[in-house]
Amino acid sequence: MTHIEAQDISRQKTGIAELDRVLGGGLALGSVILLGGDPGIGKSTLILQTMDKLSSTQKVLYITGEESIQQVALRANRLLITGQENLRLMAEIGLTHIIQAIDQEKPQVVVIDSIQTMYTDLLQSAPGSVAQVRECASILTRLAKQRHITIIMIGHVTKDGNIAGPRVLEHIVDAVLYFEGEQHSNFRMIRSVKNRFGAVNELGIFAMTDKGLKEVNNPSALFLSSYRNSVPGSSILITQEGTRPLLVEVQALVDQSHIMPPKRLAVGMDGYRLSMLIAIVQRHLGISLYDQDIFLNVVGGIKIAEPAVDLAVILAIISSFKNKILPEKLAVFGEIGLSGEIRAVQKGQERIKEAVKLGFEKIIVPKANTPKEKPANNVEIIAAVDLANVISYCFN
Ligand code: TYD
Ligand code: MG
Repeated sequence: MTHIEAQDISRQKTGIAELDRVLGGGLALGSVILLGGDPGIGKSTLILQTMDKLSSTQKVLYITGEESIQQVALRANRLLITGQENLRLMAEIGLTHIIQAIDQEKPQVVVIDSIQTMYTDLLQSAPGSVAQVRECASILTRLAKQRHITIIMIGHVTKDGNIAGPRVLEHIVDAVLYFEGEQHSNFRMIRSVKNRFGAVNELGIFAMTDKGLKEVNNPSALFLSSYRNSVPGSSILITQEGTRPLLVEVQALVDQSHIMPPKRLAVGMDGYRLSMLIAIVQRHLGISLYDQDIFLNVVGGIKIAEPAVDLAVILAIISSFKNKILPEKLAVFGEIGLSGEIRAVQKGQERIKEAVKLGFEKIIVPKANTPKEKPANNVEIIAAVDLANVISYCFN
């Protein structure tokens, strides 16, 4: 038994600012981190790049259970990583050997790529089974705590509902980061969904290039790069991801349905929320959509979980339905209640600032989020109270 002794956690910057942001300011030394994502999304690439940087100050052991040393070396070549003295590689899947190697090499940071390939002799089941994945992760976590080493485990998100995927490990580790984004787009986003040493829901944004993952310094500009104002069904949302405001395009396609019930599909936001917003439009704006297929897409592969998306979704839907474009240089945010009222959201000022910075000149905000001072002379802030007013402002 002991008394409570507060120990300051020391952090090590990884040298990749977007990753440090997601980690809450850097790698907490002695912590165990799980990095999950679809196969081929870029987990090994990101971690190899990070470890290369980190190895200038830390001794790193990279254990690969999926690829041969040659394959990792090839990737390193492609990433222009020359192979620091302090970055050691090992191809191994047996935990006993791995622990021996850790004892010998005494690294400060260990990478396990991936946890699904590891096995312990303590269990009979095959590598990749839930029992093995769990047991290996527990053993490694204990090891990290005893010897005060940082362990980064990579985990594949399995297609079929996360059986033996990273989810079964979330409660064991200190921090959980997931890759978001679509493989066919160049964006790669990493979100923290759990962090014992920092804030969650922080988003790191990268672009996949032929030389690995590059940090994106101005993500809003990139997300809007293919945005054309001249088409109906498109609105600009100012969202807040962790500590950062971000502008993204929301697209809707509303079209006469030929089946009952009509199709409803949401990509990048919750489908139930979409249904709720459709009901609000019907009830409070008197627009009947019962015979319309409605598809909604948040451009760029980002997933928006906050209710501030509501107003942008409704405007995109109505714009598509009426086949009328929204006013130029318009960006919006705001939650919508079931009675059609527009509710305040967090971090209104930051959002407005970001939109102004990107050249937007009309910003519709919930009334309670109206700034005391005008952000700039050419910028009009529209304080919205209810949906009907916003619609008449936008379409009349
Ligand atoms: P990888 O890191 O192997 O994915 P994971 O470990 O998550 O399975 O990344 C695989 C993809 O990334 C692969 O399809 C090729 C692409 N890639 C690039 O586009 N540029 C690069 O420099 C590298 C190394 C990979
Ligand atoms: Mg990999």
